[in-house]
Parts: sequence; structure tokens; C-alpha cells
Amino acid sequence: MTNKTISTTPFADQKPGTSGLRKRTPVFMQPHYVENFVQSVIDALEGFKGKTLVIGGDGRYHNDVAIQTIIRMAAANGFGKVMVGQGGILSTPATSHVIRHHKAFGGFVLSASHNPGGPDADFGIKYNIGNGGPAPEKITDAVFARSKVIDRYLINDAPDIDLGTIGSYRSGDMVVEVIDPVADYAALMQTLFDFPAIANMFANGFRMRFDAMHAVTGPYAHRILEDMLGAPKGTVINGTPSPDFGGGHPDPNLVYARDLYDLLMGPDAPDFGAASDGDGDRNLIIGRKRFVTPSDSLALLAANAPLAPGYANGITGIARSMPTSAAADRVAEKLGIEMHETPTGWKFFGNLLDADRVTICGEESAGTGSNHVREKDGLWAVLLWLNILAARQQSVDDIVRDHWATYGRNYYTRHDYDEVDTAVANKLMDDLRARLPEIAGTTYDSLAVAYADDFTYHDPIDGSTSSRQGIRIGFADGSRIVLRLSGTGTVGATLRLYLERYEPAHGQHDLDTQSALAFLISLADRIAGVRERTGRDAPSVIT
Ligand code: G1P
Ligand code: ZN
Repeated sequence: MTNKTISTTPFADQKPGTSGLRKRTPVFMQPHYVENFVQSVIDALEGFKGKTLVIGGDGRYHNDVAIQTIIRMAAANGFGKVMVGQGGILSTPATSHVIRHHKAFGGFVLSASHNPGGPDADFGIKYNIGNGGPAPEKITDAVFARSKVIDRYLINDAPDIDLGTIGSYRSGDMVVEVIDPVADYAALMQTLFDFPAIANMFANGFRMRFDAMHAVTGPYAHRILEDMLGAPKGTVINGTPSPDFGGGHPDPNLVYARDLYDLLMGPDAPDFGAASDGDGDRNLIIGRKRFVTPSDSLALLAANAPLAPGYANGITGIARSMPTSAAADRVAEKLGIEMHETPTGWKFFGNLLDADRVTICGEESAGTGSNHVREKDGLWAVLLWLNILAARQQSVDDIVRDHWATYGRNYYTRHDYDEVDTAVANKLMDDLRARLPEIAGTTYDSLAVAYADDFTYHDPIDGSTSSRQGIRIGFADGSRIVLRLSGTGTVGATLRLYLERYEPAHGQHDLDTQSALAFLISLADRIAGVRERTGRDAPSVIT
């Protein structure tokens, strides 16, 4: 076995986005592509010699090849140990936990999250730091800078590690531990939630369906829900991870998890339905005849968290990404705790969680999590919901209605325009940005604009500033229109339009969401000209 230094030339497109580097799979399969990026990350780090590196993956196509490459590179670069899940499987939140629990230096997460997998689909690599969370911009900027000038990478020529069998191996001088991907994570969940109460609920006939979408949460859900909590076999469906997610799109929303939605709205609906995405960090929550929007779910989980043993002492604060609805703000206000609004992407929550300024965080894109790890966590959200249902002995619908009666309802929707021509999308945003001062003083059909800006975040912990994080147009009645371009897409541009309207406590809480927001939807089009400029007469996806 020898360590080798391989000459390489830079790729111009290795800029990490909202959540690591994400591209079409063939891009990652080009010679040296993975190696260049991984070495650029390692070159941006200091003090890792002899330390532990965790490698997580969602089982998608090309994971196996990339994992073996990263193991060889970690060994050649001087890491002391790599921990990797059996079969290359380790969900994103479990990776975060393993990094923290075993005090690793950091880790790589191989995933393109909710994007499809396969030779013609998507792939991604993200680096997480020692707190278990995504690398902050300071590091991702350094990685990108390095990737533009990189001229060599280090790799050994050791044989492949048998990822199929739990055990201890070696790659050169480095130890490789193939671990049970579920064990540490399941043990953590047991410390947070009242497992006996949830098990009791299942024993008394509570019915649930969990759709793992052929993705990474299958093994976790089978073990925790069925084996540990006693939910009947068959509660978890599509529970075996597959490289192309069974040919599906592992995004737990009302488009791609339609069957689950239809089941919960149907005549023989179970009490509770849930799903998670490709890498296990997102969640979808649907009660019998009640879909819970992610923004509402964040508010509800925050308000009810003390019902779970892990949060019995209350929560210190809540954070939400800027486009997420303000439902959680009302909970924070009532509890008298801190509320933070951050740019899109989980990496901005890390500092607040580390400083214990917030306990629970969430995004409108079906991501919720807490200080137990530094990623959003799909199964965690499902288990907290189950804990709340077991403690309150009410239906999901009752709990949601009760919440609106107390705090009011934030009607909320997101309209995505996928694969828009990049130049058209950029011009739309640039033109709108230029008109913000003029828009700020306008009243549209008696709805006065309260502010119009491009969101800038000042991190209260490290003092860093992140600008141009999305255009916000806020109105005097608390309604909001937000526009931003996706930072995770792999083809063209994805324009996201977020719409929100507040209906106070004891107001009208039973309107259809799209109807309740109809005026704002048409106003957004009037202001930004989305349909005319994109040539689309409807969004690609409405969530
Ligand atoms: C999307 C979501 C964002 C989430 C990210 C990673 O990013 O909008 O909330 O953190 O995926 O899961 P976007 O494509 O909007 O940049
Ligand atoms: Zn994900």
C-alpha cells in the first residue's frame, strides 16, 4: 500500500450551495471530480491529523464509489480513523449525531437530499464540522477558493473496504470502523422521548403509516417504530434504501408523497402519516384529514416540546429561516423566549444552537430539528409528534385547531418554478431588487407595503453578515411575499415564491390555502411579472 500524490487541474464549478456541492451524477463521475472537491475541503481544514472522520450517505447511486475514494483520501491525508455506516448508509441527522457523540473532527455527507438518485439524476457532497453541523460560509468559501487553484490530491491504493460487514478494518495506517448506522441514533431518541407512552399508544390500537420513500430512513424507522415502539409490521413502507429510490423522487411533499396524503384523507385513514426524504432530514406530517404545513409544525412542536422528557425544562428560543411563516414567532412571543430569523439553509442555525440561544429550529421546506444534533431531523420530528399525541390524547386535527385558536393561523404556501432559464431568473430578481425602494412606498388595492428589502442576516454570535438572501415585501397587515432563487437546484434556476397571510385567533381558519392567499398570489405576479417573464402559466410545484 502506498500513498500517492496525483496531479490534477481545477474544475470551475465546485462552489458549495445551500447545502454542499450538488450536481448531476455524471458531473461527479468525471475523473478527479470527487477527489478535487474532497481535497479542497481537506486543504481548507487544520488540525485533523490522527483525528476521526465520519462518512454518511443516503445509499444513492455512486455513494459506494465515492465512499471508497474518500476513505483512501482520508488515509493518505493523515486522518486517524474513518467511521462509516454499514452498507454506506448513515442518515444526515445520524451523521451529525455520530460526529458529536464520538467527538469526530468532522464528516462528509454524500447525498442530494430530496433530489432523485441514479446515473442520470443527482449527487452531492457536503462537509460537516465538529459540532455536527454543515460547514459555515467561512469554510465553504475557503473550499471554493481552493477548488479553483487545486493542483494535486492525496490518495492511497489500498483495496476497497467491505462496507457490508460491521467491524474494524484498515486502509493503510488508518482505522476504518464500519458501524451499525441506527444504534447510536436510536439510543439518542430514547433519551429525548417517552418511548413507553408512545409504545402504549401503539399497543392501544393507534395506527400509523410511515413512508421511507425507498430512502435512508427505512432502517431507522423499521428499528425504532416497529421493533422498539411496537408499531405493527407494515407500519413502515418502502423501507429498503435503493440507489434510485425505487425510481421515485424522495421528497416528502404533497406532490411526491401523494399516496400517503390520499390515504390520510381517505375513508380508512390511519391516525397519523409521516414520511422522510432521501437523506432523512426532512419530514412530512399528516394527521387523519389534516395536513400540517411545515411552518405550523415548527410552531406546534415548539409550543408542545415540554411534553417530551428531553425538553421538559422548556426551550430557550426558536429560529426559523426567513421564508418560513411567522407562526413560530407567535409561540416565542407568548413564551417570552428569543426568536431568530436566519437565511435559508440549516448552516445558519449552528451558531445559535451552539450558544444555546435556541432549542428548536425549522424551515418551511419540511425541515425541523433541535439542539440534539446540528442538522434537521425527519424522524425526530415524527417522534416528537408521536410523543405529543401520546401525551395529549387528541387527534392531530384537534391539536392543530387548538393551536390556531390560541395563536391565530398563518396561511402559507410556496410556489416553485423549476428549470427556469438562468438568465431570465437572474434578470427577474435583479429588476425587482432595483425597484424595491419604489415598491416600499406603494399601496396595492388598499394593502400598504410596510417594507421591501433584500434580506441581510447579521449573525449575533460570530458577527458575520450574509446579504442578498431573498427579497421580502411585507405589508401593513402582516402579509408577506418572498422571492428567492434556489441554491440546491442542478438544472437551470428554480424560482421560489413564498406567500403568507395572518388570520388572528378566532378568525377564519377553515379556508382553502390557495384561496385564502389568492390576492397575494396575483399581487406577486403583478409586482414581479413571474408568469410573463418565465412564460409559465402555473408553478411547477405548489407546497
Ligand atoms: C432548499 C430549501 C431549504 C433547505 C435546503 C436543503 O434550499 O429551500 O430550506 O435548507 O433545500 O434541504 P433551496 O433550494 O431553496 O436553496
Ligand atoms: Zn434532505
